[in-house]
Amino acid sequence: MSIVCFPFKEEDVSVVVRNVECAASHPRIAAVLCVGYSQGETWHAIENAKPRIEKASGKVVILLLQKRIGVALRGGKGDGMNTALSYFLEHTQYPRLHFYDADIVSFSEKWISKAEIQADLDYDVVRHHFPRSSTDAMITWFVTKLGFAMLWPNTVLPSIEQPLGGELLVTRRAAEVLLADPRVCSQSDWGIDTLYTFVIAQTGLRMAEVYIPEGKVHALYGGLRDLRTMLVECFSAIQSLKNEVVGSDAGGYCIEFAKAVPELVQQKVGYDIEKSLKLLRSQWTPRQQELLHQHFDSALVKGLLNARDWPCWGFADEEAWTGAYLKFLDHFEKGDDDWEELLFKVWVARVLNHTLRHVIRGYDVALGSLRDFVWETRQRFGMELKATAAALDPIVIAGH
Ligand code: DGY
Repeated sequence: MSIVCFPFKEEDVSVVVRNVECAASHPRIAAVLCVGYSQGETWHAIENAKPRIEKASGKVVILLLQKRIGVALRGGKGDGMNTALSYFLEHTQYPRLHFYDADIVSFSEKWISKAEIQADLDYDVVRHHFPRSSTDAMITWFVTKLGFAMLWPNTVLPSIEQPLGGELLVTRRAAEVLLADPRVCSQSDWGIDTLYTFVIAQTGLRMAEVYIPEGKVHALYGGLRDLRTMLVECFSAIQSLKNEVVGSDAGGYCIEFAKAVPELVQQKVGYDIEKSLKLLRSQWTPRQQELLHQHFDSALVKGLLNARDWPCWGFADEEAWTGAYLKFLDHFEKGDDDWEELLFKVWVARVLNHTLRHVIRGYDVALGSLRDFVWETRQRFGMELKATAAALDPIVIAGH
């Protein structure tokens, strides 16, 4: 029987306890592992509920403080997930480990059942995907999926529906591969999901994505500034991988079709637009302007500098973002405040552009624009790769 892990920080206590209870009562689950960032209110609530849940379910609930595994980066979600992986590898009685975010209000036994049934078909990794608001997942779309499409267009990576999802099942084999990888162990921050997804693809583990039609109801964000750290850490994770090679023949990948998106998800606005409009005007430094002039295209520079005086976003279209993304891949320095703020500002402009050009035309148009963007980027960069290969080896390609 499997083990479920909930990494947690400070969450809505009643939601977490309910989710632990739900996982413990599942017939396929033998134990629930709660990995805490710190021993705060949520920790104590789980500790108090533990005897009751254990008695009612006959299962074990384990509370563990996350270890500092990757010492070079900020200690965050990555350390939490890797702590769970290492616990799992030491406790060989469980064949599979599930991860779920602790704050999912719509969590149910179905999340576990769907992953288990799919894993029975010998998949090493089963991820969950679900409908998301057209203004949510803005890092997923513009940083992770787009980065995958640019850097590894001919691989499975850009096809993965939710590469940053924290809901997944891994088998013992997958956990061994992940934890043996020094890049995974050192990614102690928000970049961990990128690293798991990347290493799973690069090592050719068999992966499936199952669909949860109700979606993931969880706490959404205020202004986009709430996502700044996640943005920086997810971009930096991609940047750290940019010279890696991934084979085009993945170990095997399948995805369950999506269904009609519930009205509630379609109507949800993922972030506070009014609050976010002000972000383009704030926290400018003379050095940010210098870096802009030094590295970026003049249209982007002009647009962003105009946005200091009056909110504007028209300049941050798909093409401008792709161009800027390439420059950031070459020059961005994590830990340098001006670089981080510039990345953040250009991304904010891109999110506003998406919102005010596509989202206002309806959910399907908005999602269509995101999918087209990734698909077209994939084709463009795939063709560029092909041309580079042909230039390097014209005889082999011509004779092919
Ligand atoms: C993403 O982009 O997927 C992050 O979860 C923020 O929504």
